[in-house]
Amino acid sequence: MNFDENIDRKNTRSLKWDGMKSGFGREDLLPMWVADMDFRPPKEVIDALRERVDHGIFGYTIITDSLNRAICDWTSTRHGWNIKQEWLLYSPGVIPSVHTAIQAFTDPGDKILVQSPVYTPFFQMIERNSREVANSPLVLKNGRYEVDFDDFEKKLESGVKIFLLSSPHNPAGRVWEKEELTKMAELCRKYNVLIASDEIHADLVPAPHKHVPIASLDESFADITLTFMAPTKTFNLAGVQASFMVVPNKKLRTKMAAVQASDGFSMLNTFGAIAMEAAYRHGGTWLDEALKYIRSNIDYVKAEIGSHLPDLEVIDPEGTYLIWIDCRKLGLSDAELKKRILEKGELALNFGHAYGPGGEGFVRMNVACPKETVIEGVKRLRTALGE
Ligand SMILES: Cc1ncc(COP(=O)(O)O)c(C=O)c1O
Repeated sequence: MNFDENIDRKNTRSLKWDGMKSGFGREDLLPMWVADMDFRPPKEVIDALRERVDHGIFGYTIITDSLNRAICDWTSTRHGWNIKQEWLLYSPGVIPSVHTAIQAFTDPGDKILVQSPVYTPFFQMIERNSREVANSPLVLKNGRYEVDFDDFEKKLESGVKIFLLSSPHNPAGRVWEKEELTKMAELCRKYNVLIASDEIHADLVPAPHKHVPIASLDESFADITLTFMAPTKTFNLAGVQASFMVVPNKKLRTKMAAVQASDGFSMLNTFGAIAMEAAYRHGGTWLDEALKYIRSNIDYVKAEIGSHLPDLEVIDPEGTYLIWIDCRKLGLSDAELKKRILEKGELALNFGHAYGPGGEGFVRMNVACPKETVIEGVKRLRTALGE
């Protein structure tokens, strides 16, 4: 796979490349925002999709045993988590799955706990369902985000129904360690709080870090956890919309399936099912290469910012392909920071204030793209924020 290849994505209905007008009011920016990659997925995935297209009939599609098995094999080999096929549920995406969980296990007005700064839709999903956000902000210590466990417990104690975990954490880039996950899960168990664990970035973790599914740590944690995973971030398949959930507890699983059914969901789309199976069966080598390439992009951004933009601090991501950059030392308001990056830098990034308390003064840069784009992106960042 040639990750250096610059593939023109303009006019492909790409949110990242063709959606800047609605996002930023102009189209002529270098897009390093939306979390998808500018890489083609593994060849085997494209071949499988092509073969299906060539067949030419796209009727109703069933979930096959071989798809279930591909998922179980993947979670076992990549994450050391042996799951049972019967624990699986499917969904078009992690966002729809979290909505289902909110509707299944909370009532309007109930509190759902998040850890800001966090992926913007976490707030939106809670608010759109008329539930209340409880927030236990992460604490930035020596360039690394940590959980404030006293605060975390206080928030749980205040009557939270669901803890919505981002693991690995977007945008903080943390790959939670066993001890941290164990402490979070033990506290959730103590206060009868369900864990909705969004693990969409699970596969995007290069050594020496290791993703640990929170439900894999203990049976009693698995019993209170809904885990959401997908091949879409991992293999750049967000547009095919396919994800799965792992729900070991039968009561929780039955309830989730019932709410999905009441929303009219019954099956994955044909292309999602095919891409998912091909990716999990054949994508391992591609992923290992992609992770190396992304890591070298991260190292480049770190080095360049270190040399040329000393007032910025890169929060070194342990996982994900998203770099969270602390620009607070510049002393700019969020509006000024945004104006400089968009207008002077002509660069589309995600702006930190959208990630809730603690996100102000930060930006998020997506480096799942050819090195050439990263070099140009850093150049534009220097134009925007240098001197
Ligand atoms: C933490 C997190 N959850 C969920 C999603 C989106 O999930 P999906 O496209 O499966 O709905 C993203 C995409 O950026 C994400 O970063």
